[in-house]
Amino acid sequence: MKATAIANANIALIKYWGKRDKDLILPYNSSISMTCDGLWSKTTVEFGNYDEDTIIINDEELKKDEKDVLGHLHRIKKMAGITKNTKVVSESNFPVAAGLASSASGLAALTLAATSAAGLKLNEKELSMLSRQGSGSASRSIHGGFVEWLKGAEDDGSDSYAKQLADKKYWPDFRMIACIVSEAKKATSSRAGMAQTVSTSPYYDGWLKSIDKDLQHMRKGIHNKDFTLVGSTAEHNALKMHATMMTTKPAIIYWALATIEIMHAVMYWREQGLESYFTMDAGPQVKILCLEKDVSKITKNLSELGGVKKTIICKPGDGAQLTKEHLF
Ligand code: PMV
Repeated sequence: MKATAIANANIALIKYWGKRDKDLILPYNSSISMTCDGLWSKTTVEFGNYDEDTIIINDEELKKDEKDVLGHLHRIKKMAGITKNTKVVSESNFPVAAGLASSASGLAALTLAATSAAGLKLNEKELSMLSRQGSGSASRSIHGGFVEWLKGAEDDGSDSYAKQLADKKYWPDFRMIACIVSEAKKATSSRAGMAQTVSTSPYYDGWLKSIDKDLQHMRKGIHNKDFTLVGSTAEHNALKMHATMMTTKPAIIYWALATIEIMHAVMYWREQGLESYFTMDAGPQVKILCLEKDVSKITKNLSELGGVKKTIICKPGDGAQLTKEHLF
């Protein structure tokens, strides 16, 4: 009753922001992402004769108020009819809870490891739907490459899951450079941030009205490997999401000074003929989209900016997988 899974984080090119159902985690809009090799979470789950449930994430025991992970584990135990206590150990190779999609990789790895330790045999669609209930973006990390999470229309969530648009080999020179500008835990979780946006931002309706066009452009851009269309659509979509965040009451501004410095730099490089685009999630890190041929020039330019602490270069990666290398 022990299993270990590895899942990569994914970065949304068209963002998910806002839930129509908070319990089942059903989104108001569909979203599209790239699963990133090199940004992974590895999780081992064992059901056994433990005195209590223990969850250790990056060497720290989970605090009792961090209910998402515990709640998800109980959901899976209930599905499988397991009453034994659980030990979970998880590690990620990048900062947790700082807007680098750690919940996506963490919850996808937990879902695959826990269902497998419990002896449940779920297909990818079922795994995606179950991961979604732990963290919306985790539904996309089940698959590799380029992925779309369909918002669905049913109240029970049975048609809200992620499917692969193209596998990791489809566009091998597509790159995402994650620029770490802060390793601090963010002040407003995406869960709280999106709820506040839906209820107080006057721009949220505009976000929803314009999303179908963005999704169409992104699907077309990926299909045609049209980097300009993919990059420009992703950048525009990220700015629209941040506009809804900034106009909530109270305002949520996830950007740091270095975030803005990088955004300006990317726009300037573009004017000079170095084509790249930025996208940011619920945190200050900037992810730069570019092609492989421009990576060394861009990383050199980034090293000359004061605020960039670290860069991680990602290409399209694999979906969640089981491994025999347990963490305990
Ligand atoms: O599923 P969560 O709670 O990690 O929310 C993800 C929200 C964004 O990262 C901002 C957008 C997205 O689609 O990943």
